[in-house]
Amino acid sequence: MKIKSSILSCCFILFTSLNLIADDTKLVKVNNSFITKFEYGELLYNNPRGIGCNTCHGSDAKGKEIVSFTHTYDKKKYNCVLRVPNIKSSSYDVFFKKVNSKKNPKKKFAKEEVCERLIYKANVMPTYFLVEEEIDAIYYYIKNLK
Ligand code: HEC
Repeated sequence: MKIKSSILSCCFILFTSLNLIADDTKLVKVNNSFITKFEYGELLYNNPRGIGCNTCHGSDAKGKEIVSFTHTYDKKKYNCVLRVPNIKSSSYDVFFKKVNSKKNPKKKFAKEEVCERLIYKANVMPTYFLVEEEIDAIYYYIKNLK
């Protein structure tokens, strides 16, 4: 009877802690204080060991225009605009891969997509070295950002 109840309480603890990992009520310990997953994600989004995501994607993660410039190609002048994408609706898969990737994957561009090709190949976004828990928290933060 005693063994049975200790097994039960053990499983109960295991079950509840597994449960907590999936939601915002799980607290993350950062610099000796406990914060929520949302707060942890916010912290990382703005200060991810490297240039903050907010700098380019904006504090609302909806993306923004960073710069416009002209580029001459084949004796033609192009007015290019570097627009950083909205990442609120990116899938977890895309998100996970992009954050730690060194280079954009190969992609074909039509002849007239001069600006698009130039910007894509410039690999504007830096490479991060974030672990799964950190990527998870940033993703969670962005999805729940009002
Ligand atoms: C210096 C500017 C810059 C910073 C800083 C930056 N990004 Fe990006 N990000 C970009 C640009 C530009 C793209 C568009 C793809 C490309 O050309 O690299 C992009 C694309 C993405 C995408 C892919 C969107 C999609 O759906 O295809 C995700 C996800 C993303 N960024 C997340 C992040 C996160 C998270 C951080 C912080 C850890 C971050 N970015 C920091 C510029 C930036």
